[in-house]
Amino acid sequence: MRTQIVHPGADNLRYEIRQIVEVANAIQATGAAIRWENIGDPVAKGERVPDWIKEIVTQAAAEDLSFAYSPTKGLAEARAYIAHERNLEGGIQITPDDILFFNGLGDAISTIYGALHPRARVIGPNPAYPTHSSAEAAHAGAPHITYRLDPENGWKPDLADLAAKVAANPDIAAIIIINPDNPTGFVYPEETLAAIVDIAVRHDLFLISDEIYSNLAYPGSGMRKLAAVVGKAPAIAMRGISKEFPWPGARCGWIEIYNRDQDAGFDRFARSLLEAKMLEVCSTTLPQKVLPRVMGDARYYPYLETRVAGYDRRARRAAEVLGGLPELIIHPARGAFYMTAVFREGTLRPGQSLPLAPQVEAIIRPQLGEALDARFVYHLLGATGICVVPLSTGFNSELQGFRFTLLEPDEARFETILQTLRGALADYLASDLKETPVRARLAGAA
Ligand SMILES: Cc1ncc(COP(=O)(O)O)c(C=O)c1O
Repeated sequence: MRTQIVHPGADNLRYEIRQIVEVANAIQATGAAIRWENIGDPVAKGERVPDWIKEIVTQAAAEDLSFAYSPTKGLAEARAYIAHERNLEGGIQITPDDILFFNGLGDAISTIYGALHPRARVIGPNPAYPTHSSAEAAHAGAPHITYRLDPENGWKPDLADLAAKVAANPDIAAIIIINPDNPTGFVYPEETLAAIVDIAVRHDLFLISDEIYSNLAYPGSGMRKLAAVVGKAPAIAMRGISKEFPWPGARCGWIEIYNRDQDAGFDRFARSLLEAKMLEVCSTTLPQKVLPRVMGDARYYPYLETRVAGYDRRARRAAEVLGGLPELIIHPARGAFYMTAVFREGTLRPGQSLPLAPQVEAIIRPQLGEALDARFVYHLLGATGICVVPLSTGFNSELQGFRFTLLEPDEARFETILQTLRGALADYLASDLKETPVRARLAGAA
């Protein structure tokens, strides 16, 4: 090309969660069975979508207007329903005009960071969900700036780290919260949310709260939406149906804009999001049509409760089984359907391995780079077929660990996955040790 055509931020776009799939597919082609614990798609993992939801979708699909464009902001009935529900919960009150639909939150995320002034930065949690961190980094053409979630403190955010980074960097314009969090399953306590709002207010920032899992918080988790504590701070909350219905293939999510009347710059930014959407015309119509009918159905919340009870049970069991390994830090998720295990410092070493069949080894070997957690993840994949995501390369983290899902609906199969994972961890961690006492201890833990 006679001129540069690659965006300077292109190298910041990486989605390890899906990239590992190519390697897993190659291993599958050798005849090995893969257990997909990497992607957060409940439907792909075998969860049944209730028949009554399918009936509502079928009825809506029979209406001609489901095939039409929708208004740019989204269908009036969907926005009215969401605003009404939001206002019933208390906290900040909104109108349907404060809601803007997108083709999934992936679309909302890339539109939001793409619309920001090139110098404005957004700080987010670490470990970082890559759709946010990559899009923000690509927008800035620089690595994503993060605040620490502390595995030694149940994944609570390190507020001192957040406050210090915000104070030191005048380019930071906003703070991301993911609540419940992906990849840790952490649910922000109300006082922590309030403290983050306070940091935003003191430094004249806005907030972005990704609440795609907010209706999948577990009982007793203390889940509160940002709307409850946002006060007068300008903010954007994000919701969607991908995980809730669950219908990720519908590509349907929305943002709720809070307090645009409090700041002229924020108001102009919010308008630029609508203008960006106008250029695309609108978002998917059918899921918006069914949204009030599904969410307004008396069966909806009892259905979510049943699903959430399953995730909660599996989270506790996973913490019990893997928590027995002293090399790992692990906390049961309190919302969403992921958990993250962290390797304690010094427990991963370059000489560790699991036995691999020669044709599998040939696939794995070129993937082994410097990241020691990725090295474990690829050995795990090659030796057991269990596909998880490394924390350092998958979630932009200095921690070494891996994320797995709680989505396996067959409890017996979930137990087998946990036991296999634990056995593989124990074998891997001991594989380069000569001293029998340590080997014996690790074997005992298995
Ligand atoms: C925290 C978070 N936000 C957004 C998304 C993207 O959701 P959507 O399917 O609406 O694009 C995901 C998907 O995994 C997610 O985990």
